[in-house]
Amino acid sequence: MRVLVVGNGAREDALSWRIAASPSCEAVFAAPGNAGTASRGENWDVAATDGKRIAERCEAERIDLVVLGPETAIAAGVGDRLRDAGIAVFGPNRSGGRLESSKIFSKRFMERHGIPTARAAIVHSLEAAHKALDDWQGSVVVKADGLAAGKGVVVTPSAATARTLLTEWYRAGRIPGGGSDVLLEERLDGRELSIFALCDGRAIAPIGAACDYKRAGDGDTGPNTGGMGAYSPPSGFPDDCFDTVRERILAPTLRGLLAEGEEYVGVLYCGLMWTGEGPQVIEFNARFGDPETQALLPRIGGDFAALLHSVATGAMDLSQLTTSERHCVGVVLATGDYPKSSAPLKSLNADIALDDGCRAFWSSSRRNNGTVDAAGGRVLTVTALGDDLHAARSKAYAAVKQLAGRLGTDALTYRTDIALI
Ligand code: AMP
Ligand code: GLY
Repeated sequence: MRVLVVGNGAREDALSWRIAASPSCEAVFAAPGNAGTASRGENWDVAATDGKRIAERCEAERIDLVVLGPETAIAAGVGDRLRDAGIAVFGPNRSGGRLESSKIFSKRFMERHGIPTARAAIVHSLEAAHKALDDWQGSVVVKADGLAAGKGVVVTPSAATARTLLTEWYRAGRIPGGGSDVLLEERLDGRELSIFALCDGRAIAPIGAACDYKRAGDGDTGPNTGGMGAYSPPSGFPDDCFDTVRERILAPTLRGLLAEGEEYVGVLYCGLMWTGEGPQVIEFNARFGDPETQALLPRIGGDFAALLHSVATGAMDLSQLTTSERHCVGVVLATGDYPKSSAPLKSLNADIALDDGCRAFWSSSRRNNGTVDAAGGRVLTVTALGDDLHAARSKAYAAVKQLAGRLGTDALTYRTDIALI
């Protein structure tokens, strides 16, 4: 099978690595790819959102399967375009992608189908926001409606703080993601967990879970980011958590999708808060998580490419999947200015090979005369497998230190408390 991975992050580097290691994979390509995917196959100089050119190139290169990495490709309708051209795609069409691309669409979908989620008010103007906050008790989670790369959510301690933030957003016309609609949500207490479920349009099944660290700083301080580290499997959740999620979240979600005529194909990422009453959905994403994927895929064996192909063609074959009992920890190395801005880094050491059981994945980057130029922001995810979480964590941080000293820059920072539980 000839497979194209769309995207250029560390998630796509990990997907391309796992796909390339699948028995059924003959060749793997990436569009536009990064320094990591370039080591496995050709990177196409095509934007992840350019459905027309991706489809043309797939036809010319006889691609059997396209795996959509980022939400921007899904929201741009790349899946629709490829399906129209008769190409098998792992990843939903634009309409299914609204579960992620619009927090308001997603919240209404959950409310329509009885999927447990935080109570919320939807507002379209500053006046409406003030009104909604008049009788608000406690913290307010303020969420911009559109895609904002994990930066459109602010957990505020009180209605007064939320008012100040919303006044800034609306007055300056600076709502993350560029829209004008905002969701105000009650704050849920508990522990967060990301569950990945595959859906072939007719059936849905969880295949893995991870815990992600979203805040920039140690101890969950600082701004929200795309994610600074992750570990898999999650620790400290009920043994039957997959069954609970299947029954309370995945089953009504699938029923809702079918009732609304939505043939959802790909992965449904359920961002959950495990509260005293069980799981509540914080967010749905229409793609694999970054960096959760980097921590999940080292534990996944079998023929991953065949599994994704079976999902893409409407006949999910879970016999292609094996999951190791081992633990994996992933730590993100990012430039110190992330998530505010991202200054590029030039001429990094391209040799990121690590000891057995450890592996590093590049984010947005390109090879240049034997070195690597990185876009900045999140630059690498360093992962390690271990027999228990503690062993995986120690190995991951040893690998981080080894790499940090070797890359030829001191601009990279990382959280020191990933998987410290
Ligand atoms: P989201 O982009 O919706 O996943 O939100 C980013 C982060 O904000 C989540 O991972 C949580 O840590 C936090 N968050 C979002 N919604 C809530 C909520 N209702 N209660 C508590 N924390 C939340
Ligand atoms: N790590 C969170 C995300 O991928 O949305």
